[in-house]
Amino acid sequence: MLRQYIKTHKEPFDSYMMELIEKELIPKTLKQSMLYSLSVGGKRLRPIILFAVLETLGLDATKGYSTAAALEMIHTYSLIHDDLPAMDDDDLRRGKPTNHRVFGEAIAILAGDALLTHAFRLICQDEELNEKQKLRLIDCLSEAAGPTGMVAGQVLDMEAEQKELTLSQLKEVHLHKTGRLIEFSVIAAGIIANASEPLIQDLKQFSRHIGLAFQIKDDILDVEGERDLIGKDVGSDLENGKNTYVSLATLAGAKQLLNEEIETALSYLNKISFDTTLLASITCYIKDRQS
Ligand code: IPE
Ligand code: IPE
Ligand code: MG
Ligand code: MG
Ligand code: MG
Repeated sequence: MLRQYIKTHKEPFDSYMMELIEKELIPKTLKQSMLYSLSVGGKRLRPIILFAVLETLGLDATKGYSTAAALEMIHTYSLIHDDLPAMDDDDLRRGKPTNHRVFGEAIAILAGDALLTHAFRLICQDEELNEKQKLRLIDCLSEAAGPTGMVAGQVLDMEAEQKELTLSQLKEVHLHKTGRLIEFSVIAAGIIANASEPLIQDLKQFSRHIGLAFQIKDDILDVEGERDLIGKDVGSDLENGKNTYVSLATLAGAKQLLNEEIETALSYLNKISFDTTLLASITCYIKDRQS
């Protein structure tokens, strides 16, 4: 079911998103660099979650295309910068050499800046959203991505290198660096669907647990994943002296905590009075994914 769902949405969404950049007058190297990192290889999990919540609430997935593209561009920018020598210094991303390896550090930094900035224009230009929805989406997305959200998590992650965090401190890092953008994918769908506040709050609780589960699994795959499947080099965390669920709780402990987050996420779905079968499949996919 989920495989079919992803197949149905990934291709049309990918073409839509690439066209958003293709059609703009952007200096050639910058455009190539932006398209290089955006192009195939990403799972598009955040857009897929956004579409799945929209459809759960009775709306067509295409209603969320521009917001999902904005989110995926911000996510992609975060990956380009995350891979830079000054950060995780990685050579492989989405199965290809990292952006700075191909275009050099300066263009990689600027491609990240460009994707981040352009994201907000996409929401502004969406004619299907009303002004109130646009403002709320921009507010939530900038909060989730910025200095109190993803960027905060990245700083905490870096500052903890070569030190040992407690598990609860690490949870805070993960909830920010990865959780906040995943949380946005769910909240955004709620805003677009004009969902009630209590429903948005239940969805938010659900998203916090899948966000955390997603990063725990990422930590596990950094140890036992296959390079060809994950499209990144394995062992990067150990090399950088990162705190991860595996380094703090062991591989078996990390898997146990992953299962607990998945169970809690599923329990929040039970509180929602819509058919949440699709969201449950996504939750299980997060646990079992190998890429
Ligand atoms: C990787 O995210 C970075 C993390 C937040 C763990 P994804 O695993 O979603 O990467 P892509 O988009 O599929 O490349
Ligand atoms: C980074 O986490 C998440 C963001 C880019 C915000 P990681 O550093 O663990 O992500 P990967 O493993 O390089 O994809
Ligand atoms: Mg990192
Ligand atoms: Mg990294
Ligand atoms: Mg990782």
